[in-house]
Amino acid sequence: MTDPSARTVRVVPGGPVMVEGPVRVELPNGSVVESDRFMVAICACRRSKTYPLCDTSHRRRQRAAADEDSVQSAAE
Ligand code: FES
Repeated sequence: MTDPSARTVRVVPGGPVMVEGPVRVELPNGSVVESDRFMVAICACRRSKTYPLCDTSHRRRQRAAADEDSVQSAAE
């Protein structure tokens, strides 16, 4: 598909889903979150305090996992 008008959505490994804005996100509970930013980060890890928008909380989880890996490597 090479439709130039197609909206780009980019999945960041271990992070958010980046969506070209503006966006209107409708949640299962009926609430609506809107953002008029050029690029909007939608939380995919469910740890964001501003869910459904990413607040970079996913980075703490990645860092903690990386720290655990380095501790395990050092112990081996
Ligand atoms: S993806 Fe960033 S806080 Fe969830």
